[in-house]
Amino acid sequence: MSTVEAPARSRAQIKERTLRKDNWRLYPITTFVIFTAWVVYATVRAFWGSAFYVPEFHYLTPFYSPCLNEICNDVTVNGHTGDAAEFGTFLPESTRGWIPFAALSLPFLLLFRLTCYYYRKAYYRSFWASPSACAVREPHGKYTGERRFPLIAQNLHRYFWLAAVLISLVNTYDAILAFHGKDGGFGIGLGTLILVANVVLLWLYTLSCHSCRHIVGGRLKNFSKHPLRYRMWGWVSKINERHGTYALITLGSLVVADLYVALVASETISDLRIFN
Ligand code: FES
Repeated sequence: MSTVEAPARSRAQIKERTLRKDNWRLYPITTFVIFTAWVVYATVRAFWGSAFYVPEFHYLTPFYSPCLNEICNDVTVNGHTGDAAEFGTFLPESTRGWIPFAALSLPFLLLFRLTCYYYRKAYYRSFWASPSACAVREPHGKYTGERRFPLIAQNLHRYFWLAAVLISLVNTYDAILAFHGKDGGFGIGLGTLILVANVVLLWLYTLSCHSCRHIVGGRLKNFSKHPLRYRMWGWVSKINERHGTYALITLGSLVVADLYVALVASETISDLRIFN
């Protein structure tokens, strides 16, 4: 009786870095450029310390929310004065320029995105070449995965998600305040629509998170005894399919929202009013 030999477990010895013939470099290079540009813009704006609030229409950029510096009070733009601080101001004016006004939210938002499954894939490929693409050999000698320090910290993502939910609530509150008219009552401007659109997209990104899907529908033996959680799990699963898209779109919507508020707050442009 003949014996069948088990296949050798070593990797195929292929000299080429990859046998792929398509333009596999496009994704990591594009991602690298977009992420680098975004981080530079966000860092500059977070430390800028001005053009963050439009008192007349209550527009506050998401990069400064919640606004915690003393400067967030009595902001004057275009002859109108108002307070951007809705949650207190425990940062003294002297910290301007080296501590972001949104010192409580920005670190958590950064950690939330940094540990996001989508962003991990994106920056592992584009910044660490680990690997650059499927079926492309990586330059690193060994791979220890996310089970050891420092990458084991990626598992904290579910806790950063909770912080992101709280911050999204604050952003929602900011967007509601932006329905403010010239005479002090109800009003809508282009800034209102931009801030609302940004908040909707932020919620889609936050609620489509893989951790959220697990928090909502995980650890259950069967769904039939938990119809509400099953329904929520189904909804989260649906938007979860586009999580990567929301991750990218919200990078753009945050910049658009911040830039628009900065342009109006610096009196470079006037807000386009739709109602009052
Ligand atoms: Fe992307 Fe949680 S997996 S935010």
